[in-house]
Amino acid sequence: MGSEKETIKRSLTNIGQEDYYIRGIEGWNKMASPTSRPEPALSWLDSAIRVKPLQLADSWKKQQVEDALKKIHLTGAQVLRIKEVFHSEVERGIHEQPSSLQMENTYIPELPNGTEEGMFLALDLGGTNFRVILLELSNGALIRENVKRYHIREELRLGCGERLFDFLAECVSDFVRSQNLGGTRLPLGFTFSFPMIQKGLDVGILLTWTKSFNCPSVVGRDAVQMLREAINRRGDTHVEVLAVLNDTTGTLIQGAVLDKKTAIALILGTGSNACYIERADRVQHWEGQRHGEKEVIIDIEWGAFGDNGVLDFIKTDYDRKVDENSLITNSFTFEKYISGKYLGEIVRVIVVKLVEDCVLFGGTVSDALLTTGAFTTSFVSLIEQDTVGNNCENTPEILDKLGLSYNADDIAIMKYICETVSNRAALLVSICTATLLERLDRPDTTIAVDGSLYKYHPRLKSWMNKYIHLLAPEKKFKLLLAEDGSGKGAGLVAAIALRLKQRFSQT
Ligand code: GLC
Repeated sequence: MGSEKETIKRSLTNIGQEDYYIRGIEGWNKMASPTSRPEPALSWLDSAIRVKPLQLADSWKKQQVEDALKKIHLTGAQVLRIKEVFHSEVERGIHEQPSSLQMENTYIPELPNGTEEGMFLALDLGGTNFRVILLELSNGALIRENVKRYHIREELRLGCGERLFDFLAECVSDFVRSQNLGGTRLPLGFTFSFPMIQKGLDVGILLTWTKSFNCPSVVGRDAVQMLREAINRRGDTHVEVLAVLNDTTGTLIQGAVLDKKTAIALILGTGSNACYIERADRVQHWEGQRHGEKEVIIDIEWGAFGDNGVLDFIKTDYDRKVDENSLITNSFTFEKYISGKYLGEIVRVIVVKLVEDCVLFGGTVSDALLTTGAFTTSFVSLIEQDTVGNNCENTPEILDKLGLSYNADDIAIMKYICETVSNRAALLVSICTATLLERLDRPDTTIAVDGSLYKYHPRLKSWMNKYIHLLAPEKKFKLLLAEDGSGKGAGLVAAIALRLKQRFSQT
């Protein structure tokens, strides 16, 4: 089954958009070609999603900026089309048909039930810091948590995968020693926040690296096995890797502890992804024996949405440039529209174009502005803070830092670009979240969210509340910040894995 899925993923990259439509996405295959589809004017939606117009006395400049950003503003018709395409990709993915969405079975069929007891280790790999965490649970509640962070140098993130896993094992030993737990048997949950093909709760085949990692030699290998081997090579700890999970899954589990209605989780950080609770009978990819599970968490890997071309109708030249400048090109299309690793870069690419057109900064660039990655998403959040607060404190400071000379128009334009790019991200995330809400047969759903973008962007949350409501008007929902799911959630998943192991060994 797994290898079939791998073949599908590989062949997908060869399927062009046209071909894909001919093979038929439900609903779309009625159309002769996607380009012939008339886009109806949806004035109610168009006006609800529009950002405030740019205020500039110089009408030439205003026009230039508006023209440059025209394609970043989604139309109501495009919004509905994305919703339809996402729905179709979800359906195809869950039925193991070609789709840009992996819809991975996590094999986690239940949530914490308050009986979780004992000491657990959690590992969190996904960002530039690796965390090792000791969690002590009593009646499902966290009573102790000790954390240690280890920086992962670039040469490890971009080098030989075996060395990376040896480094992880070294950190585990160091941590266990520092806690005086050398002789203790410790069940472990491994948060490995990269796309995996899961063949069970403790088998995760790495499909591709994302974000700031690229160690090609271990793509296609089982992350759990590599971790176990590295730990065994050292032989100085007694940890037992029981589960591998994604950060979204950990967030859902952590969200469920905070609020029982949690059934969807999102990560809006450096990367972006979502998971949700699906009916088990709808899930086709299930290796090993079923045990009468009613539900299971599905890791969507929505960062890859559009990798097969289904979102090409919203791709702008700026997005193409951002992709060209990224670590792994032609991969993780949706993530490159919405996540913290890329929002600042989209803004930078737009700004460079407007400087070249002599619209911004009197046509003079700085070296910093020409450096990929130099305009971070934290700058976008800070500039957005100025817009939301109707003041002008952060923007000049950032432009000074980038070595740019500016006037009041430049500041207004910078604010407008950051607003437009952020708004598109909020809309895209909301479209997919609304589609998931409609998929769940629940009257009231809590959506657990974590990630730096969500936490620090001043109005992502309010836009999401507005747009999700607009796009799934029948559904009651709440966005809930569920911090550190990749740590606490991993400990809880290890406890659930232990419970399932004991239960299944008795049957
Ligand atoms: C990337 C990873 C995904 C993770 C997300 C958020 O998209 O592929 O697994 O959940 O980042 O960290």
